[in-house]
Amino acid sequence: MTDDATIRQAHGENPIAAVRKAHHEQLLLCDRLEEIADSLPDSVNKQKCLYAARALGPMIRSGHRFEEDVVFPLISGQLEGDEKIKATLNRLRFEHCEDECFAEELTEALHALAEGAEDINIEATGYMLRGFFEAMRRHIAFENEFLLSKEALVAADNLRLAPGH
Ligand SMILES: [Fe+2]
Repeated sequence: MTDDATIRQAHGENPIAAVRKAHHEQLLLCDRLEEIADSLPDSVNKQKCLYAARALGPMIRSGHRFEEDVVFPLISGQLEGDEKIKATLNRLRFEHCEDECFAEELTEALHALAEGAEDINIEATGYMLRGFFEAMRRHIAFENEFLLSKEALVAADNLRLAPGH
């Protein structure tokens, strides 16, 4: 097996394509969360809340790890010495961290909705849901523009074609 084939097998596909796919799934989840926020307080679908509660943490964490372990190093390798890129990647890492924390709180709130908990603060839950999916959409829009730019695509191609990787 060639090294190139090893990389393809390890990641399954071009890393940029993998990020696009992960972003697409995350945006679909944002749409589900918006539907839940819109359904408050009287039309909540408990099954939808349960599904979102289960999907949220794992989807967010695996998407972030892939970006940080595979895609960010590709970009910083390609654009080495560019301080602005370094600062931008640090900011994106920080946003990942914040969103993961936020996702944990939201998972608990979604479980409470799914269980029909009596003491749930509907207003705070709606606010939390909207804050989360709005931040996620902004983050993804920025990454689409920044990570999936021409430079990033070139970097991904270089990785796949470079000997010795
Ligand atoms: Fe990200």
